[in-house]
Amino acid sequence: MMKFRQNIIFQYTLITFAVTFSVSALLGFLLSQKLSEQAIKAYTNFFPRIVAQIAKENPQACVLLESNRGAEISAELEDFAAQLQSVGAVFGVKIWDTNGTILWSNKKELIGKNFKDDPDFMLAARGTANSIFRRQNKDENSLERYPQTALEIYAPIFFNNKTVGVVEFYEGAQELLARIKQGMFIIWTSIAGAGILLYLLLFFIFYKAHMAQKTSTLKLERTVDVIIYALAYLAEIRDAETGRHLERTAKYVGIIARQLLRSSPYSSYLSQQYIADLMKAAPLHDIGKVGVSDAILHKPGKLTPEEFSDMQKHSAYGADILIEADKKLGFQSLLTMAIQIARSHHERWDGKGYPQRLSGDKIPLSARIMSLADVYDALRSKRCYKEAYTHAESVKIIQEGKGTQFDPDVVDAFLKKEKEFQRISMELPG
Ligand SMILES: [Fe+2]
Ligand SMILES: [Fe+2]
Repeated sequence: MMKFRQNIIFQYTLITFAVTFSVSALLGFLLSQKLSEQAIKAYTNFFPRIVAQIAKENPQACVLLESNRGAEISAELEDFAAQLQSVGAVFGVKIWDTNGTILWSNKKELIGKNFKDDPDFMLAARGTANSIFRRQNKDENSLERYPQTALEIYAPIFFNNKTVGVVEFYEGAQELLARIKQGMFIIWTSIAGAGILLYLLLFFIFYKAHMAQKTSTLKLERTVDVIIYALAYLAEIRDAETGRHLERTAKYVGIIARQLLRSSPYSSYLSQQYIADLMKAAPLHDIGKVGVSDAILHKPGKLTPEEFSDMQKHSAYGADILIEADKKLGFQSLLTMAIQIARSHHERWDGKGYPQRLSGDKIPLSARIMSLADVYDALRSKRCYKEAYTHAESVKIIQEGKGTQFDPDVVDAFLKKEKEFQRISMELPG
């Protein structure tokens, strides 16, 4: 679930697919509806012209209709009906007079019946042809059911410039249906093609932008790391140590934190992000040494109590420098952790450290980890006032500091991984 939320490409793919699919489906549906409406309208409008033509050829039938003499069937009307029935795929015809009485129908039982309130008839009687699709054996009352799908068309009969009646056709509409089907096929294939193309295009643009952004973020992160390292190194070389101290201690804190994450009371507090920040922030632990004079930093012999107290101020200086930088940033960053480390990496578990004499878990965990890493590295290094301790000696000294100088859980984590400390101290000497 977490993976899914983090995978922006996957999320984008899913969302754009859903949107493109829905929009295409809606567009396709609307266009298809419009297409069938237009096709039916065009088809329907063709009928009044044919009716007018046939009416012209059967003037007596039209006179009969015009005279409104009810259901008086005549031979003229029969001829008229026969010609109407031969139009296209027509399989049923009704001829209405303008009063709404059916004068002729191939369903004889309907002849003479009056349906003057039928809205489709009324529309045609006012001169406007209209039509409805009738599905097979549905929609119509039992008398008017036909065994096939049909277009029911009401067309006015124009004669002597006026409407003298209405013809109702039942037309098989196979040609119309085929035309609509073909139109639908064109619409749906073009929409599907355009949808896929649009989707691929959007994906391509997004993917390119995403990758470009990812690369620039990575570059920016690397730049920040290098600047942090350069800053830390600047303070470190004044103390006549090499940058290797920074490299090694960054690795040591990483080893301890990973072990604590695996098994310790801090497992739930730690995370991969915490460990990454800790390793990046670690080199800044002694940045405050920029505020300590060279005379003290480089003094070969033992420091006087005043000098020692000046030297101790480096942790507060370091925190102050980083707090100033953090204020300018205005959001949570690894500087927050760097401040904790710089300020408290000389605190002791028993409260006898400096600068605040914090004890136990009042000391930030990051600083407790840093403290052990820093001491191990100092023990293993040669200084102007001491020789380097062996790995075994250093382990022993740290073990002795468990619960006094160091957090017991941090010491336990160190003891589980001490071989890795030894390996790194040998791989990165000096
Ligand atoms: Fe320090
Ligand atoms: Fe250090």
